[in-house]
Amino acid sequence: MGFKVAVAGATGNVGREMLNILEERGFPAAEVVALASRRSVGTEVSYGDRTLKVRALDNYDFSDTDICLMSAGGNVSKEWSPRIGKQGCVVIDNSSAWRYDADVPLIVPEVNPEAITQFSRRNIIANPNCSTAQLLVALKPLHDAATIKRVVVATYQSVSGAGKEGMDELFTQTRAVFVADPVEAKKFTKRIAFNVIPHIDVFMDDGSTKEEWKMVAETKKMLDPKIKLTATCVRVPVFIGHSEAVNIEFEKPITADEAREILREAPGCLVIDKRENGGYVTPIECAGEDATYISRIREDSTIDNGLNMWIVSDNLRKGAALNAVQIAELLIERGLIQPKQKAA
Ligand SMILES: NC(=O)c1ccc[n+]([C@@H]2O[C@H](COP(=O)([O-])OP(=O)(O)OC[C@H]3O[C@@H](n4cnc5c(N)ncnc54)[C@H](OP(=O)(O)O)[C@@H]3O)[C@@H](O)[C@H]2O)c1
Repeated sequence: MGFKVAVAGATGNVGREMLNILEERGFPAAEVVALASRRSVGTEVSYGDRTLKVRALDNYDFSDTDICLMSAGGNVSKEWSPRIGKQGCVVIDNSSAWRYDADVPLIVPEVNPEAITQFSRRNIIANPNCSTAQLLVALKPLHDAATIKRVVVATYQSVSGAGKEGMDELFTQTRAVFVADPVEAKKFTKRIAFNVIPHIDVFMDDGSTKEEWKMVAETKKMLDPKIKLTATCVRVPVFIGHSEAVNIEFEKPITADEAREILREAPGCLVIDKRENGGYVTPIECAGEDATYISRIREDSTIDNGLNMWIVSDNLRKGAALNAVQIAELLIERGLIQPKQKAA
């Protein structure tokens, strides 16, 4: 028994990673189809040791496809996901287009797997923002143990979170600095090479950015609407891997040792926390890895029941492609979908 899977946005950062992860995890796919814009028709992408020729999303017939892993941006998703869903193909979407829709479940399998049953309302499931996904993998087991009241988070987000153009811009600007060429900012609002930019996505009326607002809204939707969260999201000159400095206030007492033990047992988490030189994880070490790494766990003596920690994960994996594939696996494990094409 195998599923027919389409990867829409297969030439992008997330789409390529989706193809890698489907193959690595031995996803039960009878067939995998790579889709992108018309510009990419005929381009080749790798799926394990196979090469797939990219086809155009806009003339692809989804009627015999079971799952569409969509990572082609919000506008494409707004237009295409409902049409694909109506053809009986479940869309797992990486953009923010559907995350806040009451009829669309927003899922991190380690956090709120039970919400997945609501997918049938629209045949669309949303994948969270990359910064929220890794944060909630670490917060969920701590919330279960000691009830989180408030979270203060500062992010250090890599340029791959802004797509392949973001990665190209860091590379081009870095080279320009070394050869004394003019440095041009196109994708980012200021120079990103050898700099940091406290601005991701558009500004909101209250002075926060949409990226910061997403972390608040998505935490409330997936973990607990009572949690208060405030974020400052910053772009840093790192290619892959988002980092977060997190301060958490709990209702009940919890020590750093207790938190470390809870996180050691928690699904998706890996604790690397030695109080010595290099005894913590940095983004360069998490690139290509599936885990959410937690380091620098310590008590915050300025508040009752407070902890600080450092959370790092590969934004293209747990922040996007891996989480999407895990959602597809969850659908299958729970018997919520069956392949349309029966094996001959
Ligand atoms: N990067 C992350 O960390 C991250 C995390 C979570 C969510 N996401 C979301 O995932 C999505 C993709 O991100 P990315 O980083 O992979 O971006 P990307 O590297 O810029 O890739 C974009 C992909 O979308 C395709 N595309 C663009 N316009 C299209 C159209 N009209 N029809 C069909 N395909 C089209 C592109 O195909 P062509 O090559 O043909 O243009 C490409 O395959 C975005 O919604 C992003 O917000 C990204």
